[in-house]
Amino acid sequence: MLAHLLARASIDSIVIESRTRAEIEATIRAGVLEQGTVDLMTEAGLGERLAREGQVHHGIRFRFNEGFHRIDLSALTGKSITIYAQHEVLKDLVKARLDAGGPIYFSAQTLSFHDLETDTPALRFLQHGKEAEIACDFIVGCDGASGAARHAIPVGALRVFERDYPFGWFGILVAAPPSAPELIYASHERGFALISTRSPEVQRMYFQCDPEESPDSWSEDRIWSELHGRVSGADFRLVEGKIFQKGVIRMRSFVAEPMHYGRLFLAGDAAHIVPPTGAKGLNLAIADAFLLSRALSTFYSAGRRDLLDSYSEMALARVWRAQHFSWWMTSMLHRFEGVSDFDRRRQHAELEMVAASPTMLAENYVGLPF
Ligand code: PHB
Repeated sequence: MLAHLLARASIDSIVIESRTRAEIEATIRAGVLEQGTVDLMTEAGLGERLAREGQVHHGIRFRFNEGFHRIDLSALTGKSITIYAQHEVLKDLVKARLDAGGPIYFSAQTLSFHDLETDTPALRFLQHGKEAEIACDFIVGCDGASGAARHAIPVGALRVFERDYPFGWFGILVAAPPSAPELIYASHERGFALISTRSPEVQRMYFQCDPEESPDSWSEDRIWSELHGRVSGADFRLVEGKIFQKGVIRMRSFVAEPMHYGRLFLAGDAAHIVPPTGAKGLNLAIADAFLLSRALSTFYSAGRRDLLDSYSEMALARVWRAQHFSWWMTSMLHRFEGVSDFDRRRQHAELEMVAASPTMLAENYVGLPF
């Protein structure tokens, strides 16, 4: 996304990607795009397939106490969300870059970073058994939570904030029609469940599980009985289908500050991770790319460094709002082992409060302005 936005400002870049094109285009991640993400993709000329295949949703549903509580996102905020899988976004971005002749080096391993404190940083990488070096003006680490970029920053120069959760999500892809017209976030005695969608033929569902759970020990029958137990009831029945993908997702909150060191900048999961409950991960990464593209184009067109200097502070303001939102959604909806009856009742009261006063949740869910 950043390479694409930079190219539109006539700034050259090279993308070093550790995996193959086929791998990144097949990796299953979340699928909720905030309004701001959709608008940015559309303005940047990347919105054609998104407009055709993305599903616009105007609300989400909470399920607890055996009832449904609809949050009317559009009535509350004037905005909507679009369901469009993250790997579909990646397909569009890769195609746009390659069509424009923009270099992407796939299957390339970053080896080392050099001279980050100078105006002429460099990066060494290995591709198809050959080592090479790129001399450049800036390096942006968009290489994810365990990527090399953040680790190139001296330990004393970064401050890390993190929190682990004692559960994960068991995620499945199912060949079935949607069970409901909107996403369902369910809080149940047995634990959290989320009913999402990918297309009219493919559904995405999750349920809270032990983070060490092995997907192989879950048969289709066992998965359906767990999901029905948490979501189905007298007023609603989940539609089953063939499960063709399953896996366990770990949950973590993480922020590294500041989001730069000299001429190395961090974007997306390289600097921050959120638990998936608020569907914010991809949207935060896109917001970082937008801020960096603006800061870099101002640097090249007007010789101004101020937006580069304030990038970390501006990005982190949004990141911490999303951290809070994702933590809050997670703690409100999940079952925590060993908590007191008082805490269970309090959790229910909190859901009742949100159902009665949903504006704050709706504003954060559709996304803060870029
Ligand atoms: C998804 O469809 O994968 C999804 C939707 C909403 C979330 C997380 C994941 O909060």
